Amino acid sequence: MSRLHSCRLIDLPRLVDDRGALTFIESPLLPFEVRRIYYLYDVPPFARRGAHGHARLEQLMIAVSGALDVELDDGTSKRVYRLSRPDQALYIGPMIWRDLSNFAPGTVCAVLASERYDESDYFRGYSDFLSASKGAM
Ligand code: TYD
Repeated sequence: MSRLHSCRLIDLPRLVDDRGALTFIESPLLPFEVRRIYYLYDVPPFARRGAHGHARLEQLMIAVSGALDVELDDGTSKRVYRLSRPDQALYIGPMIWRDLSNFAPGTVCAVLASERYDESDYFRGYSDFLSASKGAM
């Protein structure tokens, strides 16, 4: 399976009653042990985020509120996901370049990550990512 194909949408449980909805994420739906959680919010409509890859990090990305586009690129092919549901998580594996754009007003994007923040795990330049990605094929 290609690195891009291992990225996928995961449907999360959704418990709805007349008091509203509740979604949770727990093992075995979690593909990795969570060591960090962060969230993006107050993103201006035309801002772009991401524009990097990670050597080892795995992530789950959830549009808890609002919507955004996530373009994934494994150095060979690309795929765009529109995240717009709090009961759906996008799994992103290692060695995937990601670009985040088209944030709807009020969007909150939560990210569960397999490692603590580590700048040395980032590829900030696309050409560096491409070179490393060819070596990882
Ligand atoms: P970055 O990962 O580039 O954010 P995005 O992909 O959303 O554009 O991080 C932006 C800044 O925040 C950068 O200086 C690193 C810092 N940062 C942390 O300190 N801890 C974290 O967990 C994350 C994700 C970022």
